[in-house]
Amino acid sequence: MNKPKITSMEARPRPELFDFHGVGMIKEFTENWDNIQNFKARPDDILIATYPKAGTTWVSYILDLLYFAHMSPDRQTSIPLHDRVPFLELCEPPMPTGTDLADKLPTTPRLIKTHLPVQFVPKSFWEQRCRVVYVARNAKDNAVSYFHFERMDSGMPEPGDWSTFLQNFMEGKMVFGSWYDHVNGWWEKKETYSNFHYMFYEDLIEDCGREIDRLCSFLGLSPSPEEKERVKASVTFDNMKRNKMTNYSTIYTMNQTTSPFMRKGKVGDWKNHFTVAQNEQFDEDYKQKMKNPDLKFRYEI
Ligand code: A3P
Repeated sequence: MNKPKITSMEARPRPELFDFHGVGMIKEFTENWDNIQNFKARPDDILIATYPKAGTTWVSYILDLLYFAHMSPDRQTSIPLHDRVPFLELCEPPMPTGTDLADKLPTTPRLIKTHLPVQFVPKSFWEQRCRVVYVARNAKDNAVSYFHFERMDSGMPEPGDWSTFLQNFMEGKMVFGSWYDHVNGWWEKKETYSNFHYMFYEDLIEDCGREIDRLCSFLGLSPSPEEKERVKASVTFDNMKRNKMTNYSTIYTMNQTTSPFMRKGKVGDWKNHFTVAQNEQFDEDYKQKMKNPDLKFRYEI
């Protein structure tokens, strides 16, 4: 069978951001909308939800190893993580859509990734009472990571310079919308939907082993101490950066020499980007938008 020819994205124009039911989107995430909304989740599916750049890949890999590390070793060395954990809303021909990939997943449970704000999640996930893992990251580091990601991924809109990007971030003019709405919307869902584990990137950095334990207790898994150690060792930043199955080196839209996908993996890199004035303006704006005293982020550890 002839494989579709994938041409370099460098030659293609960057996608434009547009308003989609009040949320910034690009067509790559809306073109398959009916299939996304009608997606048939199964009761044992696990949805990994995040705002972009909050640690999606890290948590996806942890879950993938917890469930499937014992399967054929080939799986770990020959199937990129983004094929093992399909990106539900992605529609970028000639690649298969996220819904097609998910429909064809041979594993149980299926691990499915989404960046959708909570109100856009297909209703079957709620109806089937699927388990949901949400990962949130502090706004400043999240913004920095997103800026460098848009620089390197020609499948995303042009980020402009850092100060333009930061202004857009504060105004929510981003793909998948406002960070503030995203983290708050999912946090509120937790109040009414019990099959939910809300976790933080900063906690993972602080103590990855503890966070793996928490994930296991949420998922009802009891790996042996050796298995847990193996997972912990595989998911370090350096190992994931080296691993071709997790470092996105297989994705043709990403220019890793502009900025690597596995870039720094730190809490507090925002201090190398924000000017004093930007930081003051950001903090002032943040206070207005983040009124829920229960949802707290750490900006350094
Ligand atoms: P930085 O750009 O700050 O380095 P996502 O997977 O949601 O796109 O998030 C990518 C961010 O998570 C990047 O942040 C990446 O380096 C970081 N990341 C991925 N795996 C990590 C790991 N094992 N340890 C620490 N950070 C990790």
